[in-house]
This record gives sequence, structure tokens and C-alpha cells, in this order.
Amino acid sequence: MRMQGKTALVTGAATGIGLAITQAFAREGARVAIADIDLARARAQATALAPGGAALAVRMDVADAASVDEACAELSKAGFAPDVLVNNAGVIHVGTILQTTLEDLRRVLRVNVEGVFNVTKALLPGMIERGGGAILNMASLASLTAMHDRFAYSASKAAVQMMTRSVALDFVKSGIRANCICPARVHTEMVDNYLKTSYAGKEEETFRRFSEYQPIGRMIRPDEIGHMAVYLCSDESAMVTGSSFLIDGGVLTGV
Ligand SMILES: NC(=O)c1ccc[n+]([C@@H]2O[C@H](COP(=O)([O-])OP(=O)(O)OC[C@H]3O[C@@H](n4cnc5c(N)ncnc54)[C@H](O)[C@@H]3O)[C@@H](O)[C@H]2O)c1
Repeated sequence: MRMQGKTALVTGAATGIGLAITQAFAREGARVAIADIDLARARAQATALAPGGAALAVRMDVADAASVDEACAELSKAGFAPDVLVNNAGVIHVGTILQTTLEDLRRVLRVNVEGVFNVTKALLPGMIERGGGAILNMASLASLTAMHDRFAYSASKAAVQMMTRSVALDFVKSGIRANCICPARVHTEMVDNYLKTSYAGKEEETFRRFSEYQPIGRMIRPDEIGHMAVYLCSDESAMVTGSSFLIDGGVLTGV
């Protein structure tokens, strides 16, 4: 088991990529906590993962520092001391700068940028105290290259890139590693939801177009991100820090 003895907190893990990462960690022997704004769903997933109660569920709104502190206190009381943190919770907005209101921009930055800031700030001191650990942030292909209609989202994920490297550099001597994953489109509720809201009436056609945009010809499966996360959060990647890992089915290979 590649993560035996590890204790991992994954944010936004009640569904999608976060859930797949949590499942992969649990399979590899880690003790896991699902932190999500949707507590009922987080609880249901924790029970499904470990019917005996070994997987924890906690309500956490990553955009709200008080909620993050409360959740961390609750986990600490339960004896949960993470040495792996996955900042996965995130939201999207579809639109160019002219289609983005200041409130849209602030909402995306609050969750995607302040969320990483709040949770990392809350858990990093304990990780250092306990001798180190691994932080994995969920960036995006949109943090590396411009994508149509992703103005606010791309800005937020570019910030995640540099927050990852800053933490990696500042805390390398404290035993902390920080890396990020940059996926192209992963088929999750996030994609299904924005197909419904932003591409209404053209959902199937857009789904096909987005799948074909990735030269391999399909969207990524959440479990394919889970495999990469296991590597980056286990000791197998002990020499890897400050790096970003692209998983894009060939999008950036060339034109
Ligand atoms: N799906 C993709 O194509 C894709 C591609 C690249 C990067 N990503 C990134 O991967 C991460 C996960 O994406 P997904 O597709 O699984 O999303 P999703 O929308 O399917 O699931 C997101 C989860 O995060 C939770 N969440 C939302 N806001 C939260 C908050 N403020 N605090 C705590 N939890 C919150 C939701 O309840 C949900 O359980 C995001 O950061 C996303 O930007 C996704």
C-alpha cells in the first residue's frame, strides 16, 4: 500500500476529482477526511468509503476562514492530524472579461485562490510541527494556456500555480513538498453543470467538441487524476516539489 500511515485531508471531495482522489488514497491505505461545503454528501461518501467510520467528513467552506478554522478544530478533536493536504475545492465561471462581472470574478477568486490560502494557512503549521508533509493543489490546463471564455477561472488557476511554487520554495527545508496538477477537461458534475447553464441547447455538441479538443479524443476520468495524486502525495515522489503536472490528453503537445 503506497500511502500506508498517511493522513490526508481533501477539500471539495464530496464528488468529482476530490472524491476520486480520496478513494485512491483510501485504497492505498491512507486515513482520509472529506472536507466539503456540502456536509450531507460528504458524510454519505465517507460512509461509502469506510463503513466503519474510518473516513471522516467535515463541513468546510474553503472561502470562509472561520469555517476552515472550525473544521480543522473539529478534525483535530477527532485526532486527525494531516500530513497530506489536497486543495481541490474549486468553482468555474464561463465568460470573457466583458461577460464577467466584478462579483463573478470575486466569487471565483474567493473559492479558488483564497480557499487555497485559508486551508494551507490553517494546516501548514501543524504539518511542519509533525515533521513535514505533501500539499497538492488542483490547478488546471487553464493556468498554463489561455482558453476561450475562461477569464476569471484562468486568472484564479494561474494564481494557484504560483502559490504552489511559493509554498514549495519557502518550506522545502521544513519537509514540506507542494505540487499541482493541471488537468484539461475532466468529466465531472462541474462540466455537466456548466454545459447546462452556459451552453444550453448545445450540450451534446459542446460535450463532443470539448472531448475532441483533447487529441486522445475524450475527457479525462476523475480516477485518472487520482492515480497521479497518489504518486504526488506518497513518498514515491520524495524528490518532487514546486512542480506542475499536466494531464491533458495531448492538448499542449503541438498544433
Ligand atoms: N472538471 C474539470 O474539467 C477540471 C479541469 C481542471 C481543473 N479542475 C479543478 O479540479 C477541482 C475539482 O473539480 P471537479 O470537476 O471535481 O468539480 P465539481 O464541481 O464536480 O466538485 C467540486 C466539489 O467542491 C465542493 N465545493 C465547491 N465550493 C466549495 C467551497 N467553497 N468549499 C468547500 N467545498 C466546495 C462542491 O460541493 C463539490 O463537492 C476544481 O478545483 C476544478 O477547478 C477541474
